[in-house]
Amino acid sequence: MRKDATKPIERLHSSRARPAASLTADLLEAPTKRAPRSLAELNRTMAAAGPMVEGGTRAVLGEGPIGATLAFVGEQPGDQEDLQGRPFVGPAGQLLDRAMAQAGIDRSHAYVTNAVKHFKFQQRGKRRIHQKPTMGEVKRYRWWLFNELTFVQPHLVVALGATAAYALSGAPVVIGRSRGPAEFETFKGFITIHPSSLLRLRDRAERETAFNQFVRDLKSAQRLAGREN
Ligand code: URA
Repeated sequence: MRKDATKPIERLHSSRARPAASLTADLLEAPTKRAPRSLAELNRTMAAAGPMVEGGTRAVLGEGPIGATLAFVGEQPGDQEDLQGRPFVGPAGQLLDRAMAQAGIDRSHAYVTNAVKHFKFQQRGKRRIHQKPTMGEVKRYRWWLFNELTFVQPHLVVALGATAAYALSGAPVVIGRSRGPAEFETFKGFITIHPSSLLRLRDRAERETAFNQFVRDLKSAQRLAGREN
């Protein structure tokens, strides 16, 4: 294991995502004996593989149409997502829905998924406390994520936050420096904030400004995806 494999993603700093020159090693090492022939088969093997993080009751799989113009990748399912078995249905998901609607993006036409497919948490009394995945854990899910995206073939992949940007680019990313167009291996990409960062802003005006910037990012991503048609 590399020395940095257990470090949280935001502790490691580099200014740019790695360009898509060649597929990185962890994408070439298939954890299954036979290459899945469909997204459904990939999902079945993912669900059967079990959690690769602490907690993680079930795999919360991506949802949306094959060939979606935009694919959105978050960090990992949260408490609500784990309970409902669907990505981005809790408080961060509701913010994402609102930002998408304001950007003119129909969520039912987009593909929505996560870098890590299980909810990593620690049980404290009745509460399940979200734990950030380590770089090593995110890497373990990379093969699944890229195979998933290869079946979906989106025109553009939007990384929501640093964990998704790390999973997609294979290199640590500082959102403030790398926000905007990107390349993720063979996919055209775009890096923006994670909607949960808006939930942490206490000042109302600051939150509104950050939300509007997020909506502008989603519009830019949509424009970039459209140019490929
Ligand atoms: N945060 C994520 O990154 N993904 C979800 O599905 C929900 C919250």
